[in-house]
Amino acid sequence: AAIMKGKFDTFMQKEIYEQPESVVNTMRGRVNFDENKITLGGLRAYLPIIRRSRRMVFIACGTSYHSCLATRAIFEELTEIPIGIELASDFLDRKTPIFRDDVVVFVSQSGETADTILALRYCLERGALCVGVVNTVGSTLSRETHCGVHINAGPEVGVASTKAYTSQYIALLMIALQLSEDRISFTPRRGQIIMGLHALPGQIKKVLELDKTLEQLSATIVKNTSLLLMGRGYQHATCLEGALKIKEISYMHSEGILAGELKHGPLALVDENMPVIIVMTQDSLYPKVQSAYAQITARKAQPIVLCNEGDEGIPKECKTIRVPKTIDCLQGLLNIIPLQILSYHLAVKNGCDVDFPRNLAKSVTVE
Ligand code: G6P
Repeated sequence: AAIMKGKFDTFMQKEIYEQPESVVNTMRGRVNFDENKITLGGLRAYLPIIRRSRRMVFIACGTSYHSCLATRAIFEELTEIPIGIELASDFLDRKTPIFRDDVVVFVSQSGETADTILALRYCLERGALCVGVVNTVGSTLSRETHCGVHINAGPEVGVASTKAYTSQYIALLMIALQLSEDRISFTPRRGQIIMGLHALPGQIKKVLELDKTLEQLSATIVKNTSLLLMGRGYQHATCLEGALKIKEISYMHSEGILAGELKHGPLALVDENMPVIIVMTQDSLYPKVQSAYAQITARKAQPIVLCNEGDEGIPKECKTIRVPKTIDCLQGLLNIIPLQILSYHLAVKNGCDVDFPRNLAKSVTVE
């Protein structure tokens, strides 16, 4: 059946709004909320090998690469396996050493990205265990990997990836949860995360209600030539992915900046005319992000603060984007959605073709 836009103007908007359901589809039959258990059938036979590995490498391009960055910290925490993350093209350019006992995870919405496929074949030749995290069933990546997880987000048409990102994020998190199930000391942490996943669809619906606010906010920045997004820890990936959405579809220059690196260069860009979004949701790094906030406001920037509902610590004069609070390693799933919506409104205001941005393709099947 043809995929329809329904009541939406564009596929991208429809896909953003599908996220309360697409995340459920990713978890369906895999997360048992009553027993706090994860079951990924596609990995079952390989779990012992993966658990014994001394390192894992995640390989992807574009938005899929950002989902790897977003989940690295929780993956390393739960599995205690060091994770390397590679952009497929650079991984190949460097002829990166890969060994028989490596476990390599290939993340791709389409399963047809040429660089990612070439990286897969390179790793297969070297005898590594190759795992796919793919949306498209029957795609090259899903066929040529040894095992894997389909993210089940449903077809994504808009060139700018949205629902695939949140579903990849959850799929990677589920893999980490399943790998760590034999570690008793992590039982409380795993339980909290699974409870957080349970509440997620309802919280995403609440974030979608910010649409009008975000449309108004987009009007205040659309005339600028540049937009900086700052955050750290779990939220660094959110900033990179938010900036990617903005440049892909609105053609506005945008950069995701690790707040911890501000003093090493990016601070020179900040003045009263530079629009900044700072991601300041409440996790253990909150005090450090407050210090980044102080550094940029001292240079007269007036940042828009992406923060949690009910956070009283944000100065009253600030423009805010307020999202529900969830557990630290899930917060990125909620934080990215207002940035997707913001990029959408910036693109519409700039008269851009949201679903088919100039010079870009949904699936890059050439090197
Ligand atoms: C293209 C698309 C991006 C996507 C990237 C990786 O650049 O425009 O939206 O993130 O490819 O695609 P994949 O299908 O491998 O996730």
